[in-house]
Amino acid sequence: MEVGGAVDLHSHLVPGVDDGATTVEDVLEGIGRMVAAGVGTVVTTPHLEGSLTLLPDSFERRLREMDDSFALARDAVGELFPDLVFIRSNEVALDHPEPDLSDPRIQLGEGGWLLVEWPRLRVPPGSAAVLTRLVEEGHRMLLAHPERYRLGEGNGALRRISEWRESGVPFQVNYGSLVGAYGPEPRRRALWLLARGWVECLATDFHGRPSLKLFLKEAREALVTQGVDPDVALTSWELMTTTNPRRILEGDSPLPVPPLEVQSGFWERLTSFFR
Ligand SMILES: [Fe+2]
Repeated sequence: MEVGGAVDLHSHLVPGVDDGATTVEDVLEGIGRMVAAGVGTVVTTPHLEGSLTLLPDSFERRLREMDDSFALARDAVGELFPDLVFIRSNEVALDHPEPDLSDPRIQLGEGGWLLVEWPRLRVPPGSAAVLTRLVEEGHRMLLAHPERYRLGEGNGALRRISEWRESGVPFQVNYGSLVGAYGPEPRRRALWLLARGWVECLATDFHGRPSLKLFLKEAREALVTQGVDPDVALTSWELMTTTNPRRILEGDSPLPVPPLEVQSGFWERLTSFFR
């Protein structure tokens, strides 16, 4: 697989199969902005309920529906953006404690990793134990946007995120979270994660509409210009946007990301700008 530029492991660009893009035109518009922002590989990850993997007929039907729709988008994208690598995977919701995660068609590329999330941003009971058991069974999972779940405010939420971390899963944070696109609490958690070096990958989680921003350039501006140490910021940015997502696609483990402190005053100004 030839890959260049940033690697985006999380987006919803299979038309009409989830709450993401609805038309091929919207996919092309969004991909155009991603390419302009320096993305060279897009792994698009429509929602898939993990429980569906236990119902073979429904699972096959759902994957066929996604593959048919993706084929239309892929052909159109290939014509307009021949240098872009465009792959379909899934964002697998852990809505069942024991899903069957073995099917390569739901994995990120050919390396065996999975992008997983808690269903509808709600965290089920025993979430850390579920992750720990799946890791012990040998599954390699990247947890999507740990900063975005409904965990209330304050330190209880941070404790819960720390428990997920103890299971050994790497984290993918959304670019938008870093600049307050989902509100102050996800931003606060995203900065807290960065300061611990707990963000292996950044991704757009782009939902394929012209009205939605990618926040890639804004996040870069914020981290690289406002990081307390610019060299650390650049190193971390490269790891989170390019090196680590590429390693995951190729089946390798992500590299450790140096903790990154960002000047807080800047964030306050930026948040008020996006409100
Ligand atoms: Fe998503």
